[in-house]
Amino acid sequence: MRTSEPKTIRLKDYREPPFLIDQVDLRVELFEDGARVHSRLDVRRNPSVQPESELHLDGEDLKLEEVTLNGEHLSASRYVVEDSQLTIRDMPDSAVVGVVTWIKPQENTRLEGLYKSSGMFCTQCEAEGFRRITYYLDRPDVMARFRTRIEADLKRYPILLANGNEVDRSPLEEGRHQVTWEDPFPKPAYLFALVGGDLVERHDSFETVSGRNVALRMYVEPRNQEKCDHALAALKRAMRWDEEVYGREYDLDVFMIVAVDDFNMGAMENKGLNIFNSSCVLASPETATDAIYDRIESIVAHEYFHNWSGNRVTCRDWFQLSLKEGFTVFRDSEYSADQGSRTVNRIDSVNMLRTAQFAEDSGPMAHPIRPAEYMEITNFYTVTIYEKGAEVVRMIHSLLGPELFRAGSDLYFERHDGQAVTTDDFVRAMEDASGRDLTQFRRWYDQAGTPELAIEDSYDAASQTYRLSISQSCPPTPGQPEKAPFHLPFELGLLGTDGQDLELQLEGSEPSGRSMVLDITEPRQEFVFTNITARPVPSLLRGFTAPVRLRYPWTRDQLMFLISHDSDGFNRWDASQRLATDVIEALAEGREAEVDARLVSACSALLKNDALDPALVAKMLSLPSLAYLIELTPSADVLKLHQAREQVLTSLARSLRDDLHEVYQRHPAPAAYRYTSEDMAARALRNMALAWLLSINDEQALKLARSQYGQANNMTDRLGALRAVVNSDFAEARQTLLDDFYQQWQADPQVVELWFAVQAASPQAGTLPHIKALMEHAAFDWKNPNKVRSVIGAFAGQNLVNFHAPDGSGYSFLAEQVIRLDPSNPQIAARLVSPLTRWKKFKPETADAMQRALREVMGQPKLSRDTYEIVSKGLS
Ligand code: TRP
Ligand code: ZN
Repeated sequence: MRTSEPKTIRLKDYREPPFLIDQVDLRVELFEDGARVHSRLDVRRNPSVQPESELHLDGEDLKLEEVTLNGEHLSASRYVVEDSQLTIRDMPDSAVVGVVTWIKPQENTRLEGLYKSSGMFCTQCEAEGFRRITYYLDRPDVMARFRTRIEADLKRYPILLANGNEVDRSPLEEGRHQVTWEDPFPKPAYLFALVGGDLVERHDSFETVSGRNVALRMYVEPRNQEKCDHALAALKRAMRWDEEVYGREYDLDVFMIVAVDDFNMGAMENKGLNIFNSSCVLASPETATDAIYDRIESIVAHEYFHNWSGNRVTCRDWFQLSLKEGFTVFRDSEYSADQGSRTVNRIDSVNMLRTAQFAEDSGPMAHPIRPAEYMEITNFYTVTIYEKGAEVVRMIHSLLGPELFRAGSDLYFERHDGQAVTTDDFVRAMEDASGRDLTQFRRWYDQAGTPELAIEDSYDAASQTYRLSISQSCPPTPGQPEKAPFHLPFELGLLGTDGQDLELQLEGSEPSGRSMVLDITEPRQEFVFTNITARPVPSLLRGFTAPVRLRYPWTRDQLMFLISHDSDGFNRWDASQRLATDVIEALAEGREAEVDARLVSACSALLKNDALDPALVAKMLSLPSLAYLIELTPSADVLKLHQAREQVLTSLARSLRDDLHEVYQRHPAPAAYRYTSEDMAARALRNMALAWLLSINDEQALKLARSQYGQANNMTDRLGALRAVVNSDFAEARQTLLDDFYQQWQADPQVVELWFAVQAASPQAGTLPHIKALMEHAAFDWKNPNKVRSVIGAFAGQNLVNFHAPDGSGYSFLAEQVIRLDPSNPQIAARLVSPLTRWKKFKPETADAMQRALREVMGQPKLSRDTYEIVSKGLS
């Protein structure tokens, strides 16, 4: 175990900074054995706080070479260098602090601060990486103007980039050159970025609403130059959308995107210089799947939208992270919804929320979207902060309506432009612009856990009234045994016997249309609908207006009815998932032996339905994932759930064999790949049919898969065929196609990652030895997070039957990898270990084995703060 427990940082201890920095002048010299950083900071005492005589600058893993104050060398008695700070004594009211540090980007495997990735220099400063470049007040409420001069060898690093606009460039001695950048907007250090490399530049441009021309540039390694079109097109769509929907215009003359292969997360919104994980920005039809195209579209938009929600208006401290992330995820998901099918988009987000965020919210790391404390902030870039944070903003949008919400966001941006603010400032702007009182609503920001809504209803034929009662509760979470009631919007409709939405009229009120939004604020509320001539089927929480669990005793017949009639597409899908879940659970618990024929007939009808959006049909036909089923089940038995799910899948495939072949033929691949909702829906259906047929070892489907694999003009179809074969029992075909695929794509790391992930996620027995073999493969690289994620992450996160093998081998394997990775990349190690912390969800033997693996990690002598926090909380 480690010698001392890492310090807990608390929101209630927040104090304004004692010093401010107005201007930063950096000169960064890049060499083959390291980098020298010369920094000059214009520091002054913060007039609004009690004066302090010492200036404490943050710094990690820096070699200090020189300190000056107003140009004078500081005598050793005036400063102290410690592990993670530099203290300057007797600080005057204002001074220019000069610091020279030597750092080793080449040895930086943590990928925080300045590091090298495939021969290029790049940075990642959020959340606290800038302190690994130079000594600084590394906190988001210290905002400064940055001028950055980069010097490097001209041949090796012809491209030198930093934030803002280029203001100078010149050759230097010894084959070196310098480029200088100036960012006119004051910003926190976490938005600083620098890049140096031999990159190709793709040009484009965008004319803003006010007629300004913005140069768009994308920088990639030469081998990737054909993979930029999609990201650039998405960027331009996002820029237009933010003008139209939020009235936000871009503010610099140039906007740059850089792709790097080694990156801990998806991408980073550095001012004017967004840096992306290659896997989240590069695409061509031959190498990227539809899912990757979608991911790129939303991440490019997300990072661009941060220019206002995050950069122009930033966070006061890291407890406010959801201020920028929740709001920006809400913005990017609305953007994506506007590009394709809104319903399908909503289904994807909710599916993810209910699977991953609900699981987090019921586990040991449960935290409110504004946490009260943390040990390591990078552990809090979570689905709760991001996705639940977005749901909370969405609820404000639903409660206020689109016009008042827009008035609120306008006021927020105008009032706080150039400031570092809190989630409360955001809510206050929404209140001030709308006149609505969000006092109770604010509980969403500080209470963790997923609220549960229990619905009861009754129909009275004599008075033609329908009564609905809604009760809310929220289970305890760490440190929060009791919860106060939440304020939430609840949209619903009532379906009459003909399947049409009924006119809704609450007792004592005017009619309010055929779908309405109720305000829920009390522990229990009752609503009485009048003029209802027969018992209706309720369509509850339409569009998933609040991130809650819904309990209502649906019968399977009611669900069948909703599947075929609900006018709300989301709820049609939800009914299909509830029906399938109910059938799977009954089989898993041994309450039923055969698959309910109603499920078969619902699926059969869907396969034949050509009035519905095929994309929605594909979603409705997808069975709930094993991860979701586990999340719903207390004391889960993974194997039983998996077997029940397989039983449903194979029995559906057997009964619907002809329909599936027919669907496959009805959706042939067009001659050229197009990224359109229509074509994507056809590919989704086609590949689903193929996978279902292969699950029952259909020989004819194997032929189809082989020919689809061989003839595909896009990666969605090629990988779809490969995955269906890999997951099937056709062992020989599996190996042939896997070998062929690697032969063909070995030069492209992104495609190799797909190849790894397909194998690591395969439920076929015997995967673990196979995973171990993959880690010995020449293409595997411990230092590259994408490789680690595509093998170990895919195994522990998506291959749940094998990860939860009854002998505990999956758990000890994961513990071993986490221990191995922790010293070189703690951020990735801490993320990788989290599946083990969910042990409370499982039956006792499983839970014990998972805890044993956690204790193995905990027993390591020098655990990082990142992993320590997750594992120690995971064991409590
Ligand atoms: N702010 C980034 C986003 O858009 C998140 C991010 C990128 C990040 N790189 C990181 C967070 C490294 C922590 C560490 O969501
Ligand atoms: Zn973000």
